[in-house]
Amino acid sequence: MKEALLYEGKAKKVYQAKDKPGQLILDYKNDATAFNGEKKETFAGKGRLNNEISALIFPRLHEKGIETHFIERLSETEQLVHQTEIIPIEVVVRNLATGNLTKRLGIEEKTVFNPPIVELFYKDDELGDPLINDQHALLLSSVTPSELQEIKEKALEINKQLSDLFAAINVKLVDFKLEFGRLASDCIVLADEVSPDTCRLWDITTHEKLDKDVFRQGTGDLIEGYEEILKRLEAIS
Ligand code: C5P
Repeated sequence: MKEALLYEGKAKKVYQAKDKPGQLILDYKNDATAFNGEKKETFAGKGRLNNEISALIFPRLHEKGIETHFIERLSETEQLVHQTEIIPIEVVVRNLATGNLTKRLGIEEKTVFNPPIVELFYKDDELGDPLINDQHALLLSSVTPSELQEIKEKALEINKQLSDLFAAINVKLVDFKLEFGRLASDCIVLADEVSPDTCRLWDITTHEKLDKDVFRQGTGDLIEGYEEILKRLEAIS
């Protein structure tokens, strides 16, 4: 199924799919990194959990009319996706204040954002993924002003759909990061992954963290929370 390794990121390996031009295989790794790669650990089973969680979430978004790069899950840790040129802008949507935002702006933890806040970060490890504004995003990427607007609108629509999906499993979607990619047709679609690595997910009843913050903050076993998210998503699938 796999041909050449095209790229290895912190959480996934990307391969050309054999005999399928324009399609890639993402192989989810067990590595967890935080603080721009300064903290690193391996968790057996994390790759499988994120692959399975992403592979349940992307089709849900398709059902709601949101185009993504996802085609199908191939194995425990692999999924087939359409090849895109990744736009080097990380789009973060925040429903509740926490993380980088409370540190940066001194806003009180758990302040509710209605409407949600959309932030852009330049995807560049060497620069530490700095916060950027729209003008920077236009300078640093190939997107046009109307495409940037479209990306931000899509991110808010995805927030609506994901918030509803997680609410159905008694989980609050606190914030998350999205990446978009350009297909050969020029269309911009949701790419990368949607998983507890890229979302903050809090149990609505117990406020337990079911996401990567457990690893970032060293407060417990990351795998337990990821397993819980998968189990609850499977129960409504
Ligand atoms: O660190 P910060 O508060 O900006 O994170 C906001 C959201 O974006 C969190 O859900 C976090 O998991 C996600 N994120 C990510 N990858 C990054 C930075 C943030 O998935 N490089």
